[in-house]
Amino acid sequence: MAKLIDGKQIAVKIREELKSRIDKLKAQGVTPGLGVVLVGEDPASVSYVTAKERACAELGMFSSETRLPADTGEAELLSRINSMNQDPKLHGILVQLPLPRHMDEQKIIMAIDPEKDVDGFHPVNAGKMLLGQDCYLPCTPNGILKLLEESDVETSGAEVVVLGRSNIVGKPVANLLFRKANPGNATVTVCHTATRNLKEHTLQADILIVAAGRPGTVTGDMVKEGAVVIDVGVNRIPDESKKRGYRLEGDVDFASVSQKAALITPVPGGVGPMTITMLLLNTVAAAEKRL
Ligand code: GUN
Repeated sequence: MAKLIDGKQIAVKIREELKSRIDKLKAQGVTPGLGVVLVGEDPASVSYVTAKERACAELGMFSSETRLPADTGEAELLSRINSMNQDPKLHGILVQLPLPRHMDEQKIIMAIDPEKDVDGFHPVNAGKMLLGQDCYLPCTPNGILKLLEESDVETSGAEVVVLGRSNIVGKPVANLLFRKANPGNATVTVCHTATRNLKEHTLQADILIVAAGRPGTVTGDMVKEGAVVIDVGVNRIPDESKKRGYRLEGDVDFASVSQKAALITPVPGGVGPMTITMLLLNTVAAAEKRL
């Protein structure tokens, strides 16, 4: 039976360290500030944005929220981002994705000042990451690295299999893990929707990172005995027995996979709290640069 990687507890520890950096900044007259933009009312996005703002408040950071209707024009959003770029109270800017279909996501991301791009999504930061230059690392991939580090999982020489090739998780986490660095130095395979015989690949994984966006993507028969499994999925499964009417499930079939894995992240309480913590970390780092 696998041991749980407690993302919540690891996040608390890192947030405590961050708190002292924030207090130091405040003593020097700088309150780290995050501008959060949400377009539309996608319930999952609303709950992520709320959690990010609550986390800022808990650590004594400043956050400002811009909520725009789903039919907002691209020009209006670009103009809001431009104002936030100029706003000295905001050290970081986050535009919650996905954006409504009529918007060009890349164009919006490129409008954010790379110095304030605490998501690490701007091509300047994505490029720097690829080249190993100092930059804001994307939050979920960086959170995964921290989870592995805090759980004493050796990545050097490990066979890592990543399921999913999104700009937010799959591509960057694969890149971070094969960098000549610690954590890193792994042999990384990226699987996706066109991968033939997925199981052949996943069975090789010492570390399996699942960001496929579909519940039940990985079952126990696909996992090597003793593997480390990181479940990035957040799926809302209708459930009448819950007050909210749904329950959260990852992309991994927890019941069968936890029989094979040595370590596994739960959903919720695994990767999610780390993503938010890395966002706070990037925002604090951005504020420190402005001292
Ligand atoms: N949507 C899903 N994950 C993220 C994230 O880390 N940042 C933003 N801005 N949007 C997301």
